[in-house]
Amino acid sequence: MIWNTGRIFNILFWEVSLDKLIIKGGNRLTGTVEISGAKNAALPLMAASLLAAGEHALHRIPDLKDITTMGAMLADFGAVYAFDKNSVSLDCSSITHHEAPYERVSTMRASVLVLGPLVARLGKAKVSLPGGCAIGARPINLHLMGLEKMGATIELESGYVLAEARKLKGASIYFDTPTVTGTENIMMAATLAEGTTLIENAAREPEIVDLANALISMGARITGAGESIIEIDGVSSLKPLDYTIIPDRIEAGTFMTIAGITNGDITLRNCISEHLDAVINKLADSGITVDPVEGGLRAIGPSQLNPVNTRTMPYPGFPTDMQAQFMALMSVAVGTSVISEKIFENRFMHVAELRRMGADITTEDGTATVRGVRTLTGAPLMATDLRASASLIVAALRAEGETEIHRIYHLDRGYEHIEEKLAKIGADIRRERE
Ligand code: EPU
Repeated sequence: MIWNTGRIFNILFWEVSLDKLIIKGGNRLTGTVEISGAKNAALPLMAASLLAAGEHALHRIPDLKDITTMGAMLADFGAVYAFDKNSVSLDCSSITHHEAPYERVSTMRASVLVLGPLVARLGKAKVSLPGGCAIGARPINLHLMGLEKMGATIELESGYVLAEARKLKGASIYFDTPTVTGTENIMMAATLAEGTTLIENAAREPEIVDLANALISMGARITGAGESIIEIDGVSSLKPLDYTIIPDRIEAGTFMTIAGITNGDITLRNCISEHLDAVINKLADSGITVDPVEGGLRAIGPSQLNPVNTRTMPYPGFPTDMQAQFMALMSVAVGTSVISEKIFENRFMHVAELRRMGADITTEDGTATVRGVRTLTGAPLMATDLRASASLIVAALRAEGETEIHRIYHLDRGYEHIEEKLAKIGADIRRERE
């Protein structure tokens, strides 16, 4: 399938947004789930294709709305984008436009990942400022500071960032807080800059390492990815990508919590245990067994969950993208858990929905106190962001009766074929039009 108009995308977006999920809880889920490629690794790699002329091939790309959005945006710039059987091809021989409009960026914040590559390839970029979203203010000041240090002029005009540089120059850049997409943007821009760039207090997530490995396969010179200091020596040009991305650690972690809450037994194929160390550690404290098996991991839920305290941290700490699902799990533990969100100031939107199912949760200053209850009951719910939606599924699979989850377009942004995967392991779940 080849996409090159935003119009098709907009029609699709509207269709997807009209779905809801209906889940009857109480089944014990058992069987094998194939983990998809990581959305948050795929998106920066698609943006990285802008750095080199020629035909790029990316494999194990999940079939998700965010991927379609990024593909449509790259097509706007002049790339020829096609998605077929979890592979993406992108011909970036002719990149003629440099504007990421509000309509795109407002549907997907990760659109900001085109900023660094566009400035490096074309010398200019005009990208709509993302603005706040359901989980926090999420500024991009550190991305802009980094590009400015590399010699770009940055102007803010009518909600847009205009960045220009005839040739970016290597620089020493320190992030006050580790930023994932900020590190990715600067790393991509620095591959084609003149001289050496140092990123200090860089984010260390596995998706950063995957991007660095992919850029190195294109001819970039990068050391230190996965550590706090990344060094990039600029080169004059890069060759196209042919790369297979890492599995989605957050999808894998979500299925582990599902094994835990349904007293289930789920084998996860195609996942990397080391990427989940903090999560597996906390799940083990709750009583869930996670063991390596050939080709993956097997998660077995206990008959009774222990309460566990946790706080989100940049990698290798406990990921904010697992906080909501972990809270759903703790809502039925025997005892009280304290969960602190330290990355995003507003990432408790799922709390009100979980309460509607009977969960006993109070929040104060970014900390949730979760007093475990015996039963959750099905209710009509509203999904508010991607991971909040996932937490509602986790809870609904345990709840007595039927849960309807509305606005699941959030979920379609980040979980590939989730209802099919769940049905295959015994969930009573169906998708319906609103
Ligand atoms: N921050 C700043 N200034 C910046 C950039 C970030 O203050 O210029 C702050 C943020 O406000 C936040 C913290 O730094 O408090 C970390 O944010 P980060 O920039 O790392 O987040 P991100 O790059 O926008 C990525 C993921 C998110 C994930 C976070 C944290 C992608 C496409 N998105 O976002 O994924 O939650 O890192 O791990 O990689 C999701 O998949 O559901 C999702 C939201």
